[in-house]
Order: sequence, then C-alpha cells, then structure tokens
Amino acid sequence: MKVLHDHGLAPYHTFGIDVTATQIIEAENIDDFINIWHDASFNNMAKLVVGHGSNLLFCEDYQGVVILNRIKGITQTETSTSFCLHVGGGEDWHQLVRWCVDRNIGGLENLALIPGCVGSSPIQNIGAYGVELKDVCQYVDVLDVITQEIKRYDAASCQFGYRDSIFKHQLKDGHIIVAVGFCLPKMWQPKIAYAPLNQFDIATVTLREVFDTVCEVRKAKLPDPAVIGNAGSFFKNPIITKNMLNKLQVNYPTMPSYGVDEQHVKLAAGWLIDQCGLKGYQVGGAKVHPQQALVLTNIGTATAQDVISLAQYVVDSVVAKFDIALEHEVRFMAANVETHLAEIQA
Ligand code: FAD
Ligand code: EPU
Repeated sequence: MKVLHDHGLAPYHTFGIDVTATQIIEAENIDDFINIWHDASFNNMAKLVVGHGSNLLFCEDYQGVVILNRIKGITQTETSTSFCLHVGGGEDWHQLVRWCVDRNIGGLENLALIPGCVGSSPIQNIGAYGVELKDVCQYVDVLDVITQEIKRYDAASCQFGYRDSIFKHQLKDGHIIVAVGFCLPKMWQPKIAYAPLNQFDIATVTLREVFDTVCEVRKAKLPDPAVIGNAGSFFKNPIITKNMLNKLQVNYPTMPSYGVDEQHVKLAAGWLIDQCGLKGYQVGGAKVHPQQALVLTNIGTATAQDVISLAQYVVDSVVAKFDIALEHEVRFMAANVETHLAEIQA
C-alpha cells in the first residue's frame, strides 16, 4: 500500500475543491484494505473509501483516512452464450467500456465516459442512455472489513434501483466493493431507444457507432471535470405520481416526463431548474452549468460552502415554483461522516 504524503484532496475528487484529509492511502489489493482497517495507528480514525471522487462533495476537511481503491485486473472467461468478466474494483470504468468495445464485446457501450471506478459503479447503479449497471452486472464481491470475509452478492441481492442499491443502505459502512462480475451476451442487442441513439437502424448499427455517439453527446452536454470541477448530475430526477404530473401539466404542458411504472413518472430535474431561470446562476465560485442546469460546477475558486449555498438556493427555487423537493445524488462528506444538505442547513 502506498501512503501519500501530500494530504490535499483536490486531485482525488472531481469537484476539485481545496480540502485536505488527515491521511491518503492507495490500496492495491484486499490485504491493503484489511491492514489499514486493523492497523493500530488508524484505529480511532474515520475511514472513507474513494474511487475517483466523481460523486462526492467534501463539505470540509476530512478528519480521517481516505483510502483510494486501486485494485486492478480484468479476467475474461466465456460460456457458449456470454462473455464473463471479473473486474477489480479499482479499474477505471470508462477504460473498461473501451476495453470491451475494442474486443467487440457489447453491453457496456451506453455507459461510456461515466467517470469513476468499477467498484463504485454498483453503489448508485450507474445509468445513462437507457442502460443501468443492473442490466449487465452478474455479481458484486464485497469485503467485510470486520470479519475479513469476502461475500459474493448476485445482482438480485444488490437491490438495484434508480441511483440506488443495498450499498447505500445495509452494506454502506465497513463494506468495500473489491470486484464486479459482468455477464455480456455474445449475441449483441443494441439499446438504442433513447435519443439521440434512436437515429440508428437497429439492423445495421455497430457497437463502435453507439460508443462513439454516446461519447460525443456526453462531451457536448457535460463539462469535463478535468477542466471545470463538477460531479455530474447534482440532483436525482424526482419520481412523482401520475396524478401529480397531471396537475403540474395544467400550468406546464411541455414538462418532460418518463414512465417509471403504472402510477409513477420521472421528471427531468434539469428542466425544473432551467425553468427557474437558474442556468449560469452563481454563488461565489460555484455556478449552475450554463449548458446543463442539473450540473453544479466549480469555476475554479469555489469553496464547499459556495456549492452548498448554491445547492440550497436551487432546492428552494424548485420548491417555490413546483412544490417538488429535489434530492441530491452527490454524496456529501462532513469531517468524519456522511451528511446531507438538509442536515447542514438545519
Ligand atoms: P466516488 O465518488 O469515489 O465514491 C462515491 C461513493 O461510493 C462514496 O460514498 C464512496 O465512499 C463510495 N465508494 C467508492 N468506492 C467504493 C468501494 N469500492 N466500496 C465501497 N464504497 C465505495 N453517474 C451516473 O450514474 N450516470 C452518469 O451518466 C454520470 N455522469 C457523470 C458525469 C460527470 C462529468 C461526473 C463528474 C459524474 C457523473 N456520474 C454519473 C456520477 C459518477 O460518475 C458515478 O457515481 C460513479 O460511479 C462514481 O464513481 P467514483 O469511483 O468516482 O466514486
Ligand atoms: N433539460 C432542460 N434544461 C437543462 C437540462 C435538461 O430543459 O438545463 C431537459 C432536456 O432538454 C431533456 C431533459 O431535461 O428534455 C433531460 O435531460 P438530459 O437528457 O440531459 O438528461 P438528465 O435527466 O439531465 C440523466 C442522468 C444523467 C445521464 C443522462 C443520460 C440523472 C440524475 N441524470 O440526466 O446521469 O447521463 O440522463 O441518460 O438521472 C449523473 O447521474 O451524474 C448523470 C450525468
């Protein structure tokens, strides 16, 4: 394991906010994680596992050990019908997608360019362009740091939902995702129902075309965290009843909505924020992205408090106009424990 001596967290999370951690360590294998948890010098310190920090807002300096998951390795096997991949949790997600596309293995291409590690992908069941991790995940291997055992959870046990899984609830603390298994059918089924992929003909579209198109659209819509600090969609798209939608559509007939089940629809939080006139709205160094209102950005000088104040302003504006409470997708970290916008502002 590698102990990093520069304790600045800015390079290790995509918001790029200038905060520190007491200690930053890279874990390259399972023993590293076990040793860190059981090392007497870290005994009474809080511990936070981080992939690439692309879904995190550090609200203040972290008073504990940040452990960067760097467990690597991709093992490929196959059955008569599927390619099976066993992937180390510290592998880069987009590089895995590219690795598959280069080998003509389909299934992950709609999830191209999502930042982060493979080991983080099941936590919020990453999703984009009509595919979610749950559609391709076969199992998740989880280290229990107390018992030191690794347990395999099949996809059904992971309780995947929209930006949700068991890893945000029962298996949140003391459980580290060390590997993810994927089952990708050899008979590729393109998923092109979602615009702009729906321009393609299902009979002729290629894996590379889907991959390239997803990359192009994402580059056009979302700010590159290497240039402008951000954590992707800051809020989740709210799910409301169809009844409530009918009432809202009286005043807002063009409001986009997407069916979830018989009784529920998902609204576009970006549209709601945009309708409040907040594109480009700024608090200190934090700004609502002018091209995508669902993304809050660090223009280079944002403090965590700037982002928190901006997030609160967005939430208040959407409540005032639509009576809808946005929930943040980004995970907020306080000095040594996870927190939420409502708790900070209370
Ligand atoms: P981190 O931010 O490092 O960690 C996230 C949380 O998981 C933290 O609470 C952390 O403690 C915990 N954690 C991390 N690794 C482990 C582990 N191995 N075991 C246990 N806990 C762990 N998300 C989507 O779903 N779809 C998108 O289209 C999308 N687009 C994005 C675009 C941009 C520009 C950005 C910046 C983000 C986007 N995201 C998207 C959000 C983000 O990419 C995903 O949530 C990603 O899976 C986070 O991976 P990470 O390694 O950076 O996780
Ligand atoms: N819209 C606006 N104004 C805006 C932004 C969006 O009117 O400023 C409208 C769009 O015109 C469109 C609708 O809102 O009608 C939805 O927008 P978009 O297609 O850009 O998708 P999104 O709902 O903003 C979601 C995910 C993204 C994912 C994309 C593509 C959530 C919270 N976000 O964004 O995931 O990449 O769909 O599938 O579900 C992430 O989670 O970090 C993330 C980026």
